[in-house]
Amino acid sequence: MNKLLYISFLVCLFVSTQLFSEQLILHSKQILNVDTGDLYQSQILIEDGMIVKIERDLSKKQKHIKVVDLSRLTLIPGLMDSHVHLIGNTKLKGYESISESSYLATIYGVDNAKKTLLAGFTTVRNVGAGNYADVALKEAIDRNVVSGPTMIVSGPALGITGGHCDSNLLPYDYEHKSQGVADGPWEVRKMVRKNRKYGANLIKFCATGGVMSKNTNINNKQYTLEEMQAIVDEAHSHGMKVAAHAHGLEGIKTAIIAGVDSIEHASYIDDETIELAKQNGTYLSMDIYVSDFILGEGKDQGILKESLEKERVVGKIQRQNFKRAVNANAKITFGTDAGIYPHGKNARQFRYMVEWGMTPLQAIQASTIKTAELFGLVNNGNIKENFEADIIGIEGNPLEDITVLENVSFVMKDGVIFKQQDG
Ligand code: ARG
Repeated sequence: MNKLLYISFLVCLFVSTQLFSEQLILHSKQILNVDTGDLYQSQILIEDGMIVKIERDLSKKQKHIKVVDLSRLTLIPGLMDSHVHLIGNTKLKGYESISESSYLATIYGVDNAKKTLLAGFTTVRNVGAGNYADVALKEAIDRNVVSGPTMIVSGPALGITGGHCDSNLLPYDYEHKSQGVADGPWEVRKMVRKNRKYGANLIKFCATGGVMSKNTNINNKQYTLEEMQAIVDEAHSHGMKVAAHAHGLEGIKTAIIAGVDSIEHASYIDDETIELAKQNGTYLSMDIYVSDFILGEGKDQGILKESLEKERVVGKIQRQNFKRAVNANAKITFGTDAGIYPHGKNARQFRYMVEWGMTPLQAIQASTIKTAELFGLVNNGNIKENFEADIIGIEGNPLEDITVLENVSFVMKDGVIFKQQDG
């Protein structure tokens, strides 16, 4: 009997050391403080998934703790992306996308999540998924069944009948409507409640037409102010943030007035509306890389002709308005729409953000401090004592060359090492 107890004790011990990170000291070339832009030398003590101490000579004082030698790397906080679609095979576009079962889409999600994490993205917001597949993936990641970033998930995105968050691909005969379709203030409230019930911790809705959808106009507002206010009020009363997809100006403005937390795309935002966003504390998540993918590598992947036509117009305007928003010092987060293009390539957008007006530090802040603020994560987004140990390492100095972020050598999430290329 005693022997049995002893064995079960050992098993428990083994399991717990698998789930909780051991004590580690990270020894790197330098650490970037993303608040100030300072690069400094120090060592980091990690314990139970947290950054416990940052001090120069930790390894001399604490000789028993294992030191991870990252002496060629610059450490920065784990990156975050405020707009991804992890569920599904990214190669399926337009009509091909409806041939994929939700089960298969979720299995692709497992692979996509891993690629995202190994590219240095330790936290993402997944904005729209059918069948709560995003909730399942998040739970599998949280339970260490599969590896991926920490996920904030929306479940099915809310949208009007026939809007961008519905699907208009099939004719009337099929009577198809997407799972998040809800019209009128009470229907949308009910949909928010339903999403929360099944595990969403974010609400996404469509406030205008979109590029990739059939028969929607990017400039047309979708939902009335009253409906948007109902969504926001209901979501906020449950402590959930709201992300609004909006390209056209009218939809952007109305969503900001309704009190959403972030505008996704924000393509046609003007100076006055940038001011309105600033006054309301609304974040802008502008996916300024994806246009080059849609019109370049992606254009022969089954994307609708209508979508290519819309993209030819909106891509340029969005970049010009991104520059205005940067110059006006608006709150901008790093959101990419990965899923339209392959997961794990999220960092490609950094160079565009720098080309269109940000300093490299601002671009990094958009993907760390600003995203953490938008996500409501108070102890993430920087390398600081008592912060979560989400840390990545790269060769080179991202403040001099932002593209080094496209090649991440070291990834730690919650104190656990998932990638280590440098000895
Ligand atoms: N999901 C978005 C839509 O379909 C993608 C927009 C991509 N284009 C862009 N310029 N950001 O509307």
